[in-house]
Amino acid sequence: MRAFHVALFVGLANLGFCAGDLARQDAFITYSEVSRTKNERNTATVAAVSLMSTYGQIRLHLRRDWAPQACEAIAAMAAGSLRACAGCSFYRNEPVPQNWGLNGFNGPPYALLQGGLPGMTNKVKMENPKMLPVLRGTAAFIADTSDFFIGTADHREWGGAFTVFAEVLVEDMAAVVSHIPVEPYRNSTDSFNITTRWLTQPIPFTLEPLRLDEMPASALLRDEAAS
Ligand SMILES: *[C@@H]1O[C@H](CO)[C@@H](O)[C@H](O)[C@H]1NC(C)=O
Ligand SMILES: *[C@@H]1O[C@H](CO)[C@@H](O)[C@H](O)[C@H]1NC(C)=O
Repeated sequence: MRAFHVALFVGLANLGFCAGDLARQDAFITYSEVSRTKNERNTATVAAVSLMSTYGQIRLHLRRDWAPQACEAIAAMAAGSLRACAGCSFYRNEPVPQNWGLNGFNGPPYALLQGGLPGMTNKVKMENPKMLPVLRGTAAFIADTSDFFIGTADHREWGGAFTVFAEVLVEDMAAVVSHIPVEPYRNSTDSFNITTRWLTQPIPFTLEPLRLDEMPASALLRDEAAS
């Protein structure tokens, strides 16, 4: 099973950071300018990390009770100068196929939005003591990488194989994640005969740290209801 999980995500190894991405990053300098006006923040006060792209902000509400080290790692990036996030992009966006979950059908395509944080110096280790599954609207790191994905459907088929570390705000799933293009893409079929899709035009993003008081009250109410 583990080999299968790895096979589903290895394609990313082929997708190095390239000069074209840097040019695109520069085009979105306004976000970096905003970043610079914020002071360096204490990592402990970072309640959420926002992924800022031309499609809008995707706020990841950090769940330190799920994966404290992964949360610390991304909070530290967002709290300091690494938030400019050179080379960070979404490079894979596989739609939710019809009949998802019916009769055990779980892709392809695989219903996820995947991105990378190449500037993260300490790769995130496997960390999922509660064996939480990736669900629609949760974000998970892929073990021993600086790459993560957001489930756009429930992925109970993968069990607790990923480091689930954050919840995407419900409004951002609707207003931003659902509008990120799934095309153009290229297929990649690996030695397990698993076909995955990779965006041919990665979408750059930068990071912004958010404190609890900068989050919409609705997100916090949901949180209290859940805990
Ligand atoms: C990718 O593979 C699927 C399934 O084989 C196929 O339907 C689709 O046309 C392919 N897309 C591209 C862009 O090659
Ligand atoms: C690989 O997968 C495709 C589509 O799922 C299938 O048609 C083909 O027979 C498979 N090839 C092998 C060698 O299993």
